Amino acid sequence: MAQKLNQIVASLLLISTLLSAATQAIARRDDEEEDYVNALNPNRLNRRLKKQKLTHFHFYWHDIYSGSNPSAMQVVASPANTSTTGFGFVSMIDNPMTVGPDIGSKLIGRSQGFYGSADQRELAVLVTMNLVFLEGRYNGSTVALMGRNRIAAGIRETAVVGGTGVFRFATGYATARTQRFNQTSGDAVAEYNLYVLHY
Ligand SMILES: *[C@@H]1O[C@H](CO)[C@@H](O)[C@H](O)[C@H]1NC(C)=O
Ligand SMILES: *[C@@H]1O[C@H](CO)[C@@H](O)[C@H](O)[C@H]1NC(C)=O
Ligand SMILES: *[C@@H]1O[C@H](CO)[C@@H](O)[C@H](O)[C@H]1NC(C)=O
Repeated sequence: MAQKLNQIVASLLLISTLLSAATQAIARRDDEEEDYVNALNPNRLNRRLKKQKLTHFHFYWHDIYSGSNPSAMQVVASPANTSTTGFGFVSMIDNPMTVGPDIGSKLIGRSQGFYGSADQRELAVLVTMNLVFLEGRYNGSTVALMGRNRIAAGIRETAVVGGTGVFRFATGYATARTQRFNQTSGDAVAEYNLYVLHY
């Protein structure tokens, strides 16, 4: 009888020890979680986070395949020879962004990234590019754009998916309109309007 009681006491002690260890482990896990994630007052991160700004940029984007100094290069040809949309091709770009439609007008940044045919039914590309600004207070800051560009459409819209520098926490969108296109060389100039919300 006494032996049985001892056994019960021993089991209870074991259970309580295990429970206490588990509770400590959970508490420790909570502490660890707080070590790597915490809620910040936006004003503590940056005083300016109080004031959200909407900035509009108007520029021309030069997609140049021809000549000795192209800014766009096809790096993958469409493997589907019969595709009318060139499905699968990929071009890498480092395209100048200028104030005016002429390539010789003031350079404000470069548009770096790639686009490729992502549609088997109509000519539409997936565009992923960083707008790297090179002028004034925007110098060195970037806006990341990503979206679908149906080339034949009059106006195409691309999403701002983020930014760096001046454009931290950026959201917004860009619209593009083809200003010139040379079918022989593939060279194109597009007019861009970029609307970016940032702090
Ligand atoms: C496309 O054409 C190339 C060269 O003519 C050939 O080697 C390749 O197999 C073709 N690909 C397809 C998917 O038909
Ligand atoms: C932009 O920043 C770079 C690197 O800091 C500097 O070399 C360049 O002169 C700046 N450009 C302008 C227009 O301020
Ligand atoms: C179109 O590109 C071709 C090939 O580079 C060139 O010879 C021609 O002059 C260009 N046309 C225009 C209108 O710029």
